[in-house]
Amino acid sequence: MSDLSVPQINTQEWYHPSENVRRDAYITDYEAFYERAMKDPLAFWAEQAETLDWYQKWDKVLDDSNPPFYKWYVGGKTNIALNALDRHVNTWRRNKLAMIWEGEAGERRTLSYYRLWQEVNKFGNVLRSMGVRKGDRVTIYMGRVPELVIAMLACAKVGAVHSVVYGGFSEQALADRIEDAHSRVLVTQDGAWLRGQIVELKQIADEAVRRSACVEHVVVYKRTGHDVFMEPDRDYWWHDLIALPIASTKCETEVMDAEDPLFILYTSGTTGKPKGILHTHGGYQVYTSTTLRYVFDLKDEDRWWCAADPGWITGHSYIVYAPHILGATSFMYEGAPTHPYPNRWWKMVEYYGITVMYTAPTAIRGLMRFGSAWPNRHDLSSLRLLGSVGEPINPEAWKWYYETVGGKRCPIMDTWWQTETGGFMITPMPTVPLKPGSATRPFPGIEVDVVDEHGNSCKAGQDGLLVVKRPWPGMLRTVFGDPDRFKKQYWSQFPGWYLTGDSARKDEDGYIWVIGRIDDVIKVSGYRLGTAEVESGLVSHAAVAEAAAIGLPDEVKGNVIHAFCILRQGVEASPKLEEELKNHIRHEVGPIAVPAKIEFVKSLPKTRSGKIMRRVLKARALGQPEGDISTLEE
Ligand code: WT7
Repeated sequence: MSDLSVPQINTQEWYHPSENVRRDAYITDYEAFYERAMKDPLAFWAEQAETLDWYQKWDKVLDDSNPPFYKWYVGGKTNIALNALDRHVNTWRRNKLAMIWEGEAGERRTLSYYRLWQEVNKFGNVLRSMGVRKGDRVTIYMGRVPELVIAMLACAKVGAVHSVVYGGFSEQALADRIEDAHSRVLVTQDGAWLRGQIVELKQIADEAVRRSACVEHVVVYKRTGHDVFMEPDRDYWWHDLIALPIASTKCETEVMDAEDPLFILYTSGTTGKPKGILHTHGGYQVYTSTTLRYVFDLKDEDRWWCAADPGWITGHSYIVYAPHILGATSFMYEGAPTHPYPNRWWKMVEYYGITVMYTAPTAIRGLMRFGSAWPNRHDLSSLRLLGSVGEPINPEAWKWYYETVGGKRCPIMDTWWQTETGGFMITPMPTVPLKPGSATRPFPGIEVDVVDEHGNSCKAGQDGLLVVKRPWPGMLRTVFGDPDRFKKQYWSQFPGWYLTGDSARKDEDGYIWVIGRIDDVIKVSGYRLGTAEVESGLVSHAAVAEAAAIGLPDEVKGNVIHAFCILRQGVEASPKLEEELKNHIRHEVGPIAVPAKIEFVKSLPKTRSGKIMRRVLKARALGQPEGDISTLEE
């Protein structure tokens, strides 16, 4: 049923925090903090919101009169940029580093809070001069450069809704997302550096703009400097625009309602059409900053490195917004972890004195493969806490991360959450005793459970569906343009409860072990992909009549995609065709969606109603029993 089984789990293997960790933590009495939040969550969330700036205070913390369309901090006026930028330039933090950046070729840039604020203001004015107004959508398609962060914050500042599309997506995927959001403005760059090669972002963007009717202006940040096509009166260089007199360093922050949209982020679900997950200014700023403060215990002295891409929710929440709300110093690296050698990450931890590092199991496993000699060559003693996200972390990778990277000093915060949840949902805090492979317990104020299909709580050790039983400030508000899908997908199986799409198990201590997705979503290297996206990419090729995609376990990537294709009449199967189809997917959807293997078959197992039984394909591929096949047609 699930994509990943939890290997070698040992529910009685404990790791206790050291005295230093206990002494330094914000919250030393976790149990008391937890109990207090659970007893009166609304008071807890009101208290957290008090730590932020509001133009006008809210009247009501939660309006639950029209579920599942919950509203938080009703009547409150704010702007997330007020909290992430404006408020810091009036304090000593104006001189503090907001961002440290390193390019793949080794260039370094730093931006103080004052500089970041000015750059955001300049770009905010550029957006306004292009006619971007409150509520308008702007699509951003860039690599990991500071200008990506600047563009996102500038959108927030002028009240525009950003839709960031990860740079690993290609033509059709980008076109679909531009179209769905109706963006008039696209911000991109000439190319991005990855493994010493140029990713042709502008070229892909040109094709995507050709396929979607709405884009009027394209802003191009010059990163690689190689030749790119520039369409007159449509395409403008970033550096030219911010040099214009209109791009002044003063830009008024738009006063936003707490519930006004901040961004759309597309994610994969059970259909081929990606879902535009919508988050808002008020609840999201409270939720992301509160979770980051307490889970990673972020202090002014820290140097925080979230190694994700800003194009995914992890980057939105924990590179772009929460660290800056907290006034932290955040590090960002442009390129590949192994470029030019497998010590690149460790070298940067040492050079910048990173204190808290947050990454994905797939990256840890990938680096672990190169052996401990690489990290051992570096002084990693600045690290005090580590984090993991994106998929279950197998105990072997956990231990390597803990021992070799963290020198047995640094507790690992295994944070379970989703694009939809906005921030960490199940996670330890620094003083919580850990069990490798478990995300431990819900964040204070969050109520989760593991239930059977009727909604009864499962017994310890029994697999079930992971649900969230009450609303929280960082929750998605809707699926952009499709409120019915929002209701149906997340709230219909158990009215009043949020269905996560994951299966999980609770152990005898109440610790939660997330097993994996129960829907047609595959996690490849922590990236979330729908089987339907891969399948529709395949059938858009003239040779393919029908396709099915499944995820199969992989030691480094967690899962890889295996695809099965029925070819059109007269088309011959060949290794060359397999390559051609992979290439087609790389172009249409993106490199992350390319199947590891494509098999040509004569038929696919289907139910009588014609639905492909992917679990049967999977069982066959793994040589496991096929389970209940009473509904199987062929
Ligand atoms: C899915 C959400 C949230 C940021 C990145 C992923 C899986 C995420 C964990 C974890 C086990 C995890 C779940 C979830 N997942 N974190 N710590 N342990 N599984 O966001 O792309 O929306 O994917 O990632 O299956 O449903 P996303």
